[in-house]
Amino acid sequence: MDQNVFDSFGGDGQISDLIDQFYYKVLFDQSLRGKFLKSDMTRVRLQQKTFFAQMFGCPHTKYTGKDLIEVHKNLNITNQQFDRFLHHLKCILTDMNKPTELIDEILKKVDSHRKLIVFG
Ligand code: HEM
Repeated sequence: MDQNVFDSFGGDGQISDLIDQFYYKVLFDQSLRGKFLKSDMTRVRLQQKTFFAQMFGCPHTKYTGKDLIEVHKNLNITNQQFDRFLHHLKCILTDMNKPTELIDEILKKVDSHRKLIVFG
């Protein structure tokens, strides 16, 4: 079932495009960009690509980056900011012409990590 998301999404190449476009948008958002000022965005994008591939059920990808709570706990991210994050993701997925059911499934997967990210 999970592997279907990875396959129906179009594999690593599509995930790479998604994450690149996504952080481009996130860094233009005044309510989010401040959180990333001290970050190495090349690293963040790379780790996020691996994380998404694993989350989508890719059989040959294992996320070995930092623990999500450790990374986010001192960033004071609010639910409102998390919602903006999801909003940008939804826009990009729509721009990529992904089917609505696939978009909903992906947004649900990302939203299931909210408690590890929101401490604000
Ligand atoms: C409002 C929402 C979010 C904000 C503002 C945010 C912010 C950040 C920042 C600033 C970093 C870099 C930390 C550093 O430089 O050490 C980071 C890294 C990361 N974030 Fe988020 N994040 C958000 C949501 C999420 C979500 C929903 C996920 C996953 C479902 C996620 C997964 C990751 C991963 C995998 C990394 C890379 C960790 C590493 O470097 O090993 N983030 N995030």
